Amino acid sequence: MTETETLRTDLLAAIDGAADLTALEAVRVAALGKAGQVTALLKTLGGMTAEQRQVAGPAFNGLREELSAALAARKAVLEAAALEARLATERLDMSLPVLPGPRGTVHPISQVMDELAEIFADLGFAVAEGPEIEDDWHNFTALNIPEEHPARAMHDTFYVTGGGPAGANGRAVLRTHTSPVQIRTMMGQAPPIRIIAPGRVYRSDSDATHTPMFHQIEGLVIDRGITLAHLRWTLETFIKAFFEVDDVTLRFRPSYFPFTEPGVEVDVGCSWQGGRLSIGGSESWMEILGSGMVHPKVLRNCGLDPEEWQGFAFGTGVDRLAMLKYGMTDLRAFFDGDLRWLRHYGFGALDVPTLSGGVGA
Ligand code: PHE
Repeated sequence: MTETETLRTDLLAAIDGAADLTALEAVRVAALGKAGQVTALLKTLGGMTAEQRQVAGPAFNGLREELSAALAARKAVLEAAALEARLATERLDMSLPVLPGPRGTVHPISQVMDELAEIFADLGFAVAEGPEIEDDWHNFTALNIPEEHPARAMHDTFYVTGGGPAGANGRAVLRTHTSPVQIRTMMGQAPPIRIIAPGRVYRSDSDATHTPMFHQIEGLVIDRGITLAHLRWTLETFIKAFFEVDDVTLRFRPSYFPFTEPGVEVDVGCSWQGGRLSIGGSESWMEILGSGMVHPKVLRNCGLDPEEWQGFAFGTGVDRLAMLKYGMTDLRAFFDGDLRWLRHYGFGALDVPTLSGGVGA
């Protein structure tokens, strides 16, 4: 029995000393595997006398069970240690900046559109859309700009050959303004209506302040008893929030748009600060948008009775608003895709405009 005792001591020591799971597995195979030492011992039981077996049997089986238990215990310890080690090496420092660092920026036009959506959402306006390839009727006729009207020439329209939007009414054009979204909205939903419609528009024009494609935002309110006073309050609230200046003076000038009656052009008061014209004060005026009361003919074209429903509309250039607010001077740079310009004027992806956090830079 001393031989068995020595084997027991040796194997228990080997189990205890196994430094990792591979070493432990080697000990298990050497002891309990097919050709293992304990397996060999158990095999000798067959050649023993009944008396010998009565003593050796429980001893050998007891040894096997003791070793199995020791192996399982050691395995649990080593597995826990391995997990600890892995957790320690795989730990992430969540405060480290993302590598290789943030790259893209949000284009000022997208940022300004988000700012406008935020400001108008707070006033109860939904965002509406329309197709960029429009038809003649929505872009002009329904807006009270008939075929022979000189306003058509003012718009420098791009005509599209071969197919317009589904159910096109007249020739296809690239929309010259966002005003056709007024028509689509009035025809598609019942008043009261409060929408803004930001988007791309196209005119055949190109210099430092004009590009063939640019962006506008349209506003439309239709309800009962709407007056110019509502228009004025809405525009004042919008301009104050957008430029983040309380001291804003708006100047309303009578003007003409075929789809408004009356038509109003709006100038914002500016003053010179450090050689630069900035919003606020009234030393000088800058034209920023066109607006007016929706023309009764336009309401009728959309199936609304002007005796019951009135409304106001406005339209302005998103690119121009961005230039005024963030100080760019050349509109063409907006569309050059120059990375240096984008890095300088672009916004961080997490810089989401909110009224509480500020819609500004
Ligand atoms: N659609 C006009 C333009 O592009 C702007 C405008 C919109 C004017 C709504 C009045 C009302 O110049």
